[in-house]
Amino acid sequence: MDSFFLLLSVLAFIGSFISRATAEHVESCPDRIPGSQRRPNCPKSCSQGKNCPNKRQCVCYGQCGLSCVAPGRTCPWPPPPGSNTVAHLLSPAPTVSALLEIRCKPGFVMAGGLEAVTRHCQSNRQWSGEDPVCMAVLTTAPLSCPLPEEAMRGFTLQGSSAVGSSLRYGCHPGLTLVGNSENFCLENQTWQYPHPICQRVFCPPPTEVDQAYLVAVKRQEYEVGETIYYLCKKTYLLEGPNSVNCQSDGTWGPVPFCRARCTVPAQRSRVIIGGVKLWPYEIPDGVVQHGQNVTFYCKHPEKQCSFTAVQPCFDGDLRPPDCYIEPTWIRYKLFPHRLVSEIAPCDSSDQRPESSDQ
Ligand SMILES: *[C@@H]1O[C@H](CO)[C@@H](O)[C@H](O)[C@H]1NC(C)=O
Ligand SMILES: *[C@@H]1O[C@H](CO)[C@@H](O)[C@H](O)[C@H]1NC(C)=O
Repeated sequence: MDSFFLLLSVLAFIGSFISRATAEHVESCPDRIPGSQRRPNCPKSCSQGKNCPNKRQCVCYGQCGLSCVAPGRTCPWPPPPGSNTVAHLLSPAPTVSALLEIRCKPGFVMAGGLEAVTRHCQSNRQWSGEDPVCMAVLTTAPLSCPLPEEAMRGFTLQGSSAVGSSLRYGCHPGLTLVGNSENFCLENQTWQYPHPICQRVFCPPPTEVDQAYLVAVKRQEYEVGETIYYLCKKTYLLEGPNSVNCQSDGTWGPVPFCRARCTVPAQRSRVIIGGVKLWPYEIPDGVVQHGQNVTFYCKHPEKQCSFTAVQPCFDGDLRPPDCYIEPTWIRYKLFPHRLVSEIAPCDSSDQRPESSDQ
């Protein structure tokens, strides 16, 4: 239909061809719809360009169908400016029946989703219809907060930098995070907090452990991942790990202890150590290791029998239980078989006195 109108307007200019052109395209022009007959906008109807008076030409005139139209009449050109529209003349000249295409400017869309509307030049020298309404297109690209590359070096990031989202920061190994580890992208595309920084981490010289040697080169600071070993002095027992590691937070983690042995505080009585009943002189060096239990013999307060009480050695500290009474030297020398550690144990039926070891 468009090309028909275009062709028609070209031919309208060249008056000599008009009758032939209308004759060729008469089938393509809509019939004048009933009722439009008396519309003031519709010129006198015609057929095949034969019956138009006053040099008028029989042309297809939109909804009016074939109509007698005066040649040389033009509509305003350029057309009155619309808002956010672009007009494009589809015909060679803005003469009667010329077509004008109206589109929206880039970034605008037409109400109703139309691509374009077409207006035609009416015989009253006005463009038909009205300019369409063009509305700004809402941008759908998600808004986000900036992530300056140089500020993000050394980080591992999780989350999103889109408006309304949160971002979690981590640091590469050997670096520690200083600042907020989480940030939020605000409506105005700024971050809620300043970006944190990833700092190199060092550990201070490791903690001295009592009675231990530090197997390490003495320095002011140590790298993350470095290991340092502890050795306890002779006779001390290492409790805990024998090494510490410089951790990513700049600390060494738990350090060990060097625990002292205990002197067994029984001199004239047998005790049980590691399941073996020993006289003091049978105990190597007269000591037990840290953590070892020593079982002492106590006398029943009324009966001539013995019961046992266990005491642990803790870092050099081993006290005899309250019920333990160190035998006299005379008894030990002259009546060793009468020592509490040597008399018969009490029966399980014998009421054992409430232990008050501590
Ligand atoms: C962005 O918004 C926050 C809170 O709504 C405000 O504190 C901050 O000043 C704003 N920043 C800018 C650059 O407008
Ligand atoms: C020492 O005795 C306590 C209870 O009296 C027991 O829990 C612990 O396991 C014992 N320790 C050893 C090394 O036998």
